[in-house]
Amino acid sequence: MRPEEKQSDLQTPPAPAVDESIASGGDRLPEHERREFEKAVLEGLRARPRRLPCKYFYDVRGSQLFDRICETEEYYVTRAELSILEENAAEMARQIGPRAAILEPGAGSLHKIRLLLPEMPDLAAYLPTDISGRHLHNAARQLSREFPRISIHPEVLDFHDVEGWGRLFESHAAARRVVFFPGSTIGNYQPQEAQRFLNQIASRLHAKDGILIGVDLVKDRATLEAAYNDHAGYTAAFNKNLLTRINRELQGDLRLNHFEHHARFHAEQSRIEMHLVSKVDQIFHVAGHRFAMKKGDSIHTENSCKYTIDAFTKLAVAAGLRRACAWTDADELFSVHYLQVV
Ligand code: TRP
Repeated sequence: MRPEEKQSDLQTPPAPAVDESIASGGDRLPEHERREFEKAVLEGLRARPRRLPCKYFYDVRGSQLFDRICETEEYYVTRAELSILEENAAEMARQIGPRAAILEPGAGSLHKIRLLLPEMPDLAAYLPTDISGRHLHNAARQLSREFPRISIHPEVLDFHDVEGWGRLFESHAAARRVVFFPGSTIGNYQPQEAQRFLNQIASRLHAKDGILIGVDLVKDRATLEAAYNDHAGYTAAFNKNLLTRINRELQGDLRLNHFEHHARFHAEQSRIEMHLVSKVDQIFHVAGHRFAMKKGDSIHTENSCKYTIDAFTKLAVAAGLRRACAWTDADELFSVHYLQVV
């Protein structure tokens, strides 16, 4: 596909037919979650600075857009991590040990586990979870065709449902339990939250269980900012898709072309900040409530924290884990850590 075709594909607002098929296909939150979404959105839009909850990025369209981001030239994260997994899969399998159950939260398209599975013929179970059920089940069906001998059990779970992981692990006997957490998702937490989250996971695992986790590394500003401002506009479309979802699920009347995607690196906090900036003075409604924004006002949608290997190791140790091994790619863009419960 030529770049200009991608561009026009994205500038066309989603055709109503697509939205309807998504809605009727079940891409609406169940009522109690919809209410939670509404509460979080209203709260965030009233807060100063304004913010929106990033957990709602990944509906069907959001998951598809994120897959496209991962294929862009600028988003080095996925390529670097795949190269690390590819080169070190055997060593990773050795560190993890035999007959493990691997649980992957927010597993999406299940691309990354493919690199590990050939090195783990005796895997007890692969347990991919995601909040986007349709995407997950399609991907799991495809994966079982490729690895017919591996026992694969997809489960629709909220990313943060650590209790749910416990239940899943319990229903699949294994010598070791491993949480596989690739991508730069841990970076979407603030360091303190990341530490708390890792600690929460560790406290539900046993000694010698582990976490195999991807961590994006600090690097020059140009490379970092380009990764979140791809030319084809997938990242912008992904960020704005949150507004589309608010319109669909919360009777919003937000106009996508009144907002601009912004992503900048803030060196002091070592993080990329994602915003939706108002291009005009505007009034909009969400769930019957009225909101006003001035030109230049912004809504903060996501952070992506960047670490050095040392800084992340300290964080993991503080969370009650020990680093068994850390791998990076040839250009030292990204890192994968195997952290063991002590
Ligand atoms: N976990 C991804 C990251 O921080 C998520 C991500 C990539 C993202 N691009 C984005 C989130 C754009 C919001 C907007 O790298």
